[in-house]
Parts: sequence; C-alpha cells; structure tokens
Amino acid sequence: MNDFHRAEMADQELADAMDKLVIVKSAIYTSGERDPREPPPRQDTAGRLHLMGHDPRLPKMPDKPTLFDFFRLRFGPAIHMLQSARLALNNGCDEKVILACLLHDCSAAGFIRADHGYWAAQLIAPYVDEEVAFAVRYHQVLRFYPDESFGYKYPDSYIRLFGADYKPEPYLDRAYEHCRNHRWYRTARLLTVNDLYSFDPNVHVELEEFTDIVGRNFRQPPEGLGFDDSPSAHMWRTINWPTRYL
Ligand SMILES: [Fe+2]
Ligand SMILES: [Fe+2]
Repeated sequence: MNDFHRAEMADQELADAMDKLVIVKSAIYTSGERDPREPPPRQDTAGRLHLMGHDPRLPKMPDKPTLFDFFRLRFGPAIHMLQSARLALNNGCDEKVILACLLHDCSAAGFIRADHGYWAAQLIAPYVDEEVAFAVRYHQVLRFYPDESFGYKYPDSYIRLFGADYKPEPYLDRAYEHCRNHRWYRTARLLTVNDLYSFDPNVHVELEEFTDIVGRNFRQPPEGLGFDDSPSAHMWRTINWPTRYL
C-alpha cells in the first residue's frame, strides 16, 4: 500500500467514525460567534452516540500522557516558548525561570487565550514549584507594566495589537500591585524579560534541550497528566479530549 492509499483509508476510517458520533462544541468555543443564550444548533443525532472519549479528528494521546506529549500532540507551535526558554538559559537564569519560560503560554497554545497566565498557572501548579506557577500567573499582568530597572519596556507589539490608548483593566492594576510587592516579583519579572517580543521563525529549538530541566523541576505524574486526580487533572483531560459530551 502506498502513501496515497494509506491516506485515503485513514480519511475513510475518519469519515466512518464521524458518521457514528455526535460531536458538539462547548459554549466557550463559540460564545461571541453565536449568542450563548441561544439553544445549540440542531444536529441529526438519530442512530448516533454522543462522543465520550477521544475525538477521531485529533492525533491520539498515549494512555499516560507526559508534558512533552501535550506539547507535541495538543499545543500549537511552541517555538515562542522554546525560544524564550533558551534565551533564559543563555542569560544564565536559574531553572525555575527557564521552566517558567518553557511553560508560560501553554494555555494560549492549547487551552484558552483570555487570562492565559492564570489558566496556565492553574494547569501546572500541582507539578511545579509554587514560585514557577506564580511567575507564570503574573507574567500576563507584568507585560503591561514597564520596569526600567530590569530593562523591561512596554511592548511595541502591544501598541500595534491593542492600540496606543489601551489601558489595563482595574483587576490587572490590582494584580500588578500585588505582584510588585511580592517576594517572587523578580522571578515573574525575569519571565517577562525573557518572554520574547518577536521570535525568530528561523531559529530552531528542540523540546529535548529541556528534558533534564523538566525532569528535575516538573513532577510528571506516573498515571499521566489528566489521570492523576490532581486539582488540575480535569483541565489536562479537557485538552486531551476537548469535545467529550460530558
Ligand atoms: Fe503570555
Ligand atoms: Fe510569551
């Protein structure tokens, strides 16, 4: 069998699987595109079962998925996080900062963009030092507030993205004040210093460069992320199986 036939068969298998399943989108996926108060669009469900596991359109995750499996099979291009982590490494930062750089945008890459620092911190909190989760949570906030003593300016890209008149919401001002006065401010600030404004699409960084740092600083659960009953296991499961009916 050649590649073309293999691809055709895979397409057919997928089409057959899809015919047997009802797959719906969570309200949050479509809220805004449609009014979330409206009833969901009707689907023909006759003779079909509602999906309660792996979505056949996605690459299958191993039974005991690791952090790197999520990077490879569920996150969008991670080059920005990898390049930030390498920059922190080259700048001589300690392993907590390097790990924070490697993980800091994982929510935007594979889960939810809005308040991505907060979501990412919750995702990783059971598995990393509290200081790492703190830095990831507050990097989103600190990016809006310059600190000349670290050589950190308000990003030009934010002016392009949000306009020159954009003002952070009051909750961000409060979070900034809290972080500014916290003993781990420096760690969170170092993350923003190494959080590359514009990454270079031609610089290649392999995940494996960080195998040892992750091994020493990320408590990979033996049951696999999502199946270890941690406070964020359900969030990893949702990334693994994003379209389960319940
Ligand atoms: Fe970010
Ligand atoms: Fe970032």
